[in-house]
Amino acid sequence: MKYPSFKKSVELLAQVRGIIPGAAQTFSKGPTQFSAGSAPNFIVSGKGCRLTDLDGNELIDYSSSLGAVTLGYAYPAVDRAVAAQMKRGMSLTLPSPLEYELGMVLKDIYPCAEMVRYGKNGSDATSGAVRAARAITGREVVACCGYHGWQDWYIATTTRDRGIPGGVKALTKTFDYNDPASLERVFEENNGNVACVIMEATGVVRPEKNFLKEVKRITHKHGALLIFDEVVTGFRLALGGAQEFFGVVPDMACIGKGMGNGMPISAVVGKKRFMKVFDEIFFSFTFGGEALSLAASLATISEMKRHDVPGHMARMGQTLMDGYNALAKKHGLEDVTKCVGYPCRNIVSLKDETGQESLLVKTFFQQEAVARGVLFCGYHNYTLSHKVRDILATLSAYDGALAELKDALGKGGSREIKKRLNGELLQPVFRKL
Ligand SMILES: Cc1ncc(COP(=O)(O)O)c(C=O)c1O
Repeated sequence: MKYPSFKKSVELLAQVRGIIPGAAQTFSKGPTQFSAGSAPNFIVSGKGCRLTDLDGNELIDYSSSLGAVTLGYAYPAVDRAVAAQMKRGMSLTLPSPLEYELGMVLKDIYPCAEMVRYGKNGSDATSGAVRAARAITGREVVACCGYHGWQDWYIATTTRDRGIPGGVKALTKTFDYNDPASLERVFEENNGNVACVIMEATGVVRPEKNFLKEVKRITHKHGALLIFDEVVTGFRLALGGAQEFFGVVPDMACIGKGMGNGMPISAVVGKKRFMKVFDEIFFSFTFGGEALSLAASLATISEMKRHDVPGHMARMGQTLMDGYNALAKKHGLEDVTKCVGYPCRNIVSLKDETGQESLLVKTFFQQEAVARGVLFCGYHNYTLSHKVRDILATLSAYDGALAELKDALGKGGSREIKKRLNGELLQPVFRKL
């Protein structure tokens, strides 16, 4: 196998490490997730579902910019809308009428959406929704389940909790997915002080025994608000997200990734009686209604409707997921690797010979997939630009990578894999304590 060169990436990374802590603005885009030496660390351009890296390698992409790109890179209809708006100005002194136009579109799509406020990142939306819930209820505790962004109240629950005051940390409680009793416990232990339940309605695991309805019932029984964090599920599971897909309507929802095909825009949507509090709380920032992103979002959603993008993602994803698991079986690796999740978004688990999820094996598999033209990152976010031929090319690359993995595991397991690595070992974003 002739491995591609990442010489320029490695050289620039060494320089960048001297000036940018972490060498990226987002952990999931940094060298802890893309092995320096055997995968690219810098991308210069993207078109459709393909990226070109600093060394000139072209790769099929499955991060899709962490799920922010839903149509494809440099998608003409969105680029045209952005270019047209650019001529009229990006950030204007007063709100653009596009705020209303997009609001009406979102109102039509999301079952809970009667009013809307915009942000730039998903974290803006989740922060705003939680502040609103605290203001409405006069309570302080937040119950959460899933990932919700970089703000204090959520990150306090993770292993990267340095810099967060203990008082803030004490106000966020987690509960377990598919375990209504764990949510009941949070309410019992925080005696009338839980403002809201914020959760990803689903991640990889599906809700069982009417879990979402049960969460809604428990939350309302205790006088708290239910917020669905639809930053990932929105525009992907269905156009109207998990609330449409599962038919469970929350009080408020947070959307973000995907609504602008990569342009920075997010939103809190929700019932009028709750959203009205945004008039009183402080949710206000310079770029909140930046017009390029509003224009991009209108164009993106229009294309999504026209092409049934969630349906397309599900078809492509089902083919890849089934194909991957068939390949794992063909190579006798069913106990080592599996592709699981929803058709529209799935993840690949990779274990070592002891049956433990292994970053060493993941690093090796990434190296081998990248060498065959696929920027493997551990999960698959599909876009409208991923076509059947791309899925087939990906499966062919995975076939070769799995053959290498089988060979290395057979010839010495993890020890052998370590010897075969060309780059740095991947690291978790959140370390196990
Ligand atoms: C479910 C969920 N909520 C919130 C966020 C935070 O979004 P952002 O990183 O845009 O602030 C993310 C980001 O990955 C997410 O996956």
